[in-house]
Amino acid sequence: MSSAPIGVFDSGLGGLSVVRAIVELMPSESLLYVADTAHCPYGSRSVEYLRARAMHISAWLQAQGAKAIVVACNSATVATIATLRENFSLPIIGIEPAIRPAAANTKSGVIGVLATAATLGSAHLAALIERHTEYHEVVTSACPGWVEAVEAGALDSPATRALVEASVQPLLDAGADTLVLGCTHFPFLRPLIEVVAGPSIRILETGMPVARQLQRQLQSHQLAANGSPPVHRFLSSANPAAQAAFVRHYWPGVGEIAQLPA
Ligand code: DGL
Repeated sequence: MSSAPIGVFDSGLGGLSVVRAIVELMPSESLLYVADTAHCPYGSRSVEYLRARAMHISAWLQAQGAKAIVVACNSATVATIATLRENFSLPIIGIEPAIRPAAANTKSGVIGVLATAATLGSAHLAALIERHTEYHEVVTSACPGWVEAVEAGALDSPATRALVEASVQPLLDAGADTLVLGCTHFPFLRPLIEVVAGPSIRILETGMPVARQLQRQLQSHQLAANGSPPVHRFLSSANPAAQAAFVRHYWPGVGEIAQLPA
């Protein structure tokens, strides 16, 4: 049992879609969230850059007493999860696109994957696809502008709708009946994606499976919350005041919203 917080990080606000699932599943856990907004978007960064950021943030979270770290970012997971596990002894939980559930769900045999360029170009995703999609076709989109739209809070503007259409329609045209949201920012655009895709298309996201995996890890390491009142903190490497409205809306239990120390 432990009152220590779970450390969570992402390039910005996207990981709050994972926080939402963690809070729903384990409301008594404390959370310490880092939005690395000064370095957002991660999706166009090199592996070396992402490893340096992930090492820096994880070391900080560990120094704050985090009992586990959730890499709430697909781009950072594919580039850094092995390095983090080599360098830190606390449980490290990553996130990856829901390829296996998509393969089990699709009737058309065509799976659409929406993710960043970093995730789409990774050996990690190639291995996932290779492992789970023997008889399927996988079509992808790097979704230009989506992460920036979420960071700007422009979740339902006409410009964002045009961006969503531009990336989703080609996947539908290719026959996809299942869309995998392979970036933690994208669940915030789900209402728009649903409008564009229509009701017959299945949309898969990964926040809850990650929360369940975290729960299993905490239990197996005897690290689950000990009944102290949970403390929820949000720190940003950019301008936390500008993010506060979004953060409070999607994470109503959040307390402190502050600048990440340099
Ligand atoms: N939310 C992240 C992901 O899941 C990163 C998005 C970005 O910064 O490009 O990939």
